[in-house]
Amino acid sequence: MNLYGEYGTDGFAVIVVVGGGTMGGGIAVRFALAGTPVRIVEHSPELAEACESRVRESLARAASRLGRGDEITDLDLLLSVDTAHPEPSNVELVIEALPEDLGLKQSILSTIDTHYFADRTGEDRDLIIGSNTSSLPISEIATSLQHPERFCGMHFFNPVPASSLVEVVVGEQTSDATVAKATSYGELLGLTPIVVKDSPGFASSRLGVALGLEAIRMVESGVASAGDIDSAMILGYKHPIGPLKLTDLVGVDVRLAIAEHLANELGPRFEPPELMRNMVAEQKLGKKTGEGFYVW
Ligand SMILES: NC(=O)c1ccc[n+]([C@@H]2O[C@H](COP(=O)([O-])OP(=O)(O)OC[C@H]3O[C@@H](n4cnc5c(N)ncnc54)[C@H](O)[C@@H]3O)[C@@H](O)[C@H]2O)c1
Repeated sequence: MNLYGEYGTDGFAVIVVVGGGTMGGGIAVRFALAGTPVRIVEHSPELAEACESRVRESLARAASRLGRGDEITDLDLLLSVDTAHPEPSNVELVIEALPEDLGLKQSILSTIDTHYFADRTGEDRDLIIGSNTSSLPISEIATSLQHPERFCGMHFFNPVPASSLVEVVVGEQTSDATVAKATSYGELLGLTPIVVKDSPGFASSRLGVALGLEAIRMVESGVASAGDIDSAMILGYKHPIGPLKLTDLVGVDVRLAIAEHLANELGPRFEPPELMRNMVAEQKLGKKTGEGFYVW
């Protein structure tokens, strides 16, 4: 149940987020803050319960940070967490934020496709499906869908409630209308959407990792210290954070996995430096283990 009563009875569009972990929870918070009814679908009652308390806390924190703490009762009503999908006809957007596993995403999306499109009539709202994948090819995920033209990537950034960007990723069969809708959802959330062709690392990870890898090679060959290399980018090029501190925040292991994927897809220029592999072997993963390029 949400602020507007039963789903679909009063004409309000509903957004569904499948998978209420780090990203799905953040996406739901962002939609609630934009005044949109949002339902998170988790896959067991226990996970749904844990997700609900985590997401409500995050919503309260975001509302208070934005000076909207007095709205929290109403905002809370916009959000619901369940193991079941809502009645399809008023749902306008489904975003999957499932774990990064192609087979899992394809199989759950095929169920979603059947549920939402089976009895859809011309009078129902238009529906698009977005994927928050950070690395899987949109066109490959889409092979499990009956309506791949209504599917695109919607790549959000962590932490979503405080982020500024969404990458709209255009698969081989994504229609222009789907891109336009996904873009306008990004704008509704106060994000700047960029439109990117389905390609490894999209725009953000590909460029971000390229800079990070070169910075690591520079530490490896003794060009300068991590702090000085970061200062070069912060003070010289006005980056808000240096590439090595960012690698520590993301996790050296997470960036290693992305670099390996990009090296596979785009060639040896993304081959991870030896220093990076050694740091992962020694559990120097960055902030989460207390040491990476910096001591935290
Ligand atoms: N974490 C990040 O910084 C980040 C940034 C951008 C994109 N992404 C992408 O977002 C997606 C989700 O990542 P995450 O970090 O939020 O993962 P996560 O593990 O925190 O969340 C995944 C959620 O999906 C749920 N889930 C699993 N199977 C399910 C099912 N069958 N039905 C419903 N829910 C199910 C899990 O219970 C969990 O809550 C991935 O594709 C990831 O690559 C992550």
